[in-house]
Amino acid sequence: MATFLLVFGISVGAYVLIYYNFIRGKQCKSNASLKGKTVIVTGANIGIGKMTALDMAKRGARVIMACRVKETAEAAAYDIRRLSGNNEVIFMHLDLASLDSVRAFCKNFLSSEPRLDILINNAGKTVSFKVLCIQQEMQPVA
Ligand SMILES: NC(=O)c1ccc[n+]([C@@H]2O[C@H](COP(=O)([O-])OP(=O)(O)OC[C@H]3O[C@@H](n4cnc5c(N)ncnc54)[C@H](OP(=O)(O)O)[C@@H]3O)[C@@H](O)[C@H]2O)c1
Repeated sequence: MATFLLVFGISVGAYVLIYYNFIRGKQCKSNASLKGKTVIVTGANIGIGKMTALDMAKRGARVIMACRVKETAEAAAYDIRRLSGNNEVIFMHLDLASLDSVRAFCKNFLSSEPRLDILINNAGKTVSFKVLCIQQEMQPVA
């Protein structure tokens, strides 16, 4: 029993050490002011994107939430404005699976915003190449 507990303890300790030092990514703990800066966060309505948008808003940035579903994005923007006390948090429609939507987003952004300082392409990795191919009538390479 004692041997089992010892092996178990060492295994848990080793896992914790390996997890915190190698598996878990580094955390950004900066509190630098972002006043006067404009940030785009894609996929900012939930998850990591929403938490990132909240952090940017707390630091005073103008935050553009680039999301594909208006209802969830507006609800998240409301939460972020309330929690950060920053009213410069706005939704702009963007569906990264559609190049037409990407072009429309760029046009909208360029016509309404004078600057972009930070782009956080949080939702970028989730786009399927197959979806893009279907929308653009291309053939995916196997
Ligand atoms: N969570 C993790 O442990 C982890 C680890 C490593 C990397 N990542 C990466 O970090 C990013 C965020 O992770 P998460 O866990 O926060 O993911 P999540 O909760 O699933 O959120 C993904 C976000 O991307 C948006 N999105 C998906 N497809 C989109 C599209 N075509 N156009 C625009 N927005 C789109 C989603 O919008 P809807 O709500 O409209 O679907 C949602 O806001 C992902 O790229 C993920 O691959 C996450």
